[in-house]
Amino acid sequence: MAAPNELSTRYGPWALVAGASEGIGLAFADALAAAGLSVALVARRPAPLAGAAERLAAAHRVETLAIAADLGDDDAPDAILAALGAREVGLLVYNAALSVSGPYLDVPLATHHRALRVNCLAPLALVHALAGPMRARGRGGVVLMSSLTGAVGGACLATYSGTKAFGAVFGEALWDELRGAGVDIVVSQAGATLTPGYEATAPAKLPALAPRPMRPEAVVADALRALGRRPVTIPGRGNRVAAFFLRHFMTRRRAVLTMGAAGREVHAAAARAAEEPPR
Ligand SMILES: NC(=O)c1ccc[n+]([C@@H]2O[C@H](COP(=O)([O-])OP(=O)(O)OC[C@H]3O[C@@H](n4cnc5c(N)ncnc54)[C@H](OP(=O)(O)O)[C@@H]3O)[C@@H](O)[C@H]2O)c1
Repeated sequence: MAAPNELSTRYGPWALVAGASEGIGLAFADALAAAGLSVALVARRPAPLAGAAERLAAAHRVETLAIAADLGDDDAPDAILAALGAREVGLLVYNAALSVSGPYLDVPLATHHRALRVNCLAPLALVHALAGPMRARGRGGVVLMSSLTGAVGGACLATYSGTKAFGAVFGEALWDELRGAGVDIVVSQAGATLTPGYEATAPAKLPALAPRPMRPEAVVADALRALGRRPVTIPGRGNRVAAFFLRHFMTRRRAVLTMGAAGREVHAAAARAAEEPPR
């Protein structure tokens, strides 16, 4: 990871983390606040969001701003920009995602549309609004959280993997467009990561050769290390090996079937979790 003062010099004074109250997004907010950036945090549930913003402000003596918004709502990007006001955002981390799991035809179309708004349209709007001023200032950065599932289509993950592929290719293209303008872009193609969202639907047993889930802090450190160095990063050796096998040692057919087996496992685990009585 870049030295803390380097992060705040290149990407301060404010970072906006979309999807910031837990998991990978909270780990981003924590790492950036520790580096001296002020952090605006976005999430839906106001209480955990306010708690995270207060804890970070107290722990790192930086300013924080909690913005409660649902990125699946059409007006969320405008509401977030209005809440930011005149704050100068030098770093955007787009982390939130709606993970749709299940056979495509059995999930209501409205849910697929919502996933497109959270995973594609909201990042398009926020990057458009915030990276323009970064380009004008000649410095800034954007981190887009994607997923290894964006590399290959997987059954029961069709819309999720499609949106994650969109984010990855969109980010790569922007990396090239903006690299001469002082604005760094990186796409993180993470594998399984130990977040509350993952743990709620984690398969009971991982296949013997599946990469081990990573800690959110390690995924964040990898992305911040890669920012300004390359367009895409895959955190963790196990994930890099898995991605290499999928791309170079399997036919596309075999890769799709392998990803589909994982997608069906995730869906089965999510269905079991939904049936459990609330604790
Ligand atoms: N965890 C994994 O195994 C894994 C693997 C590969 C890639 N990724 C990617 O990494 C990113 C983070 O994943 P994650 O597992 O940490 O958790 P997540 O469930 O995607 O997001 C967690 C954070 O985002 C907020 N959030 C979720 N939906 C939102 C919405 N519609 N509007 C505003 N905020 C929203 C949540 O707070 P609220 O619930 O209060 O809104 C929470 O703060 C995602 O882009 C995911 O695709 C994760």
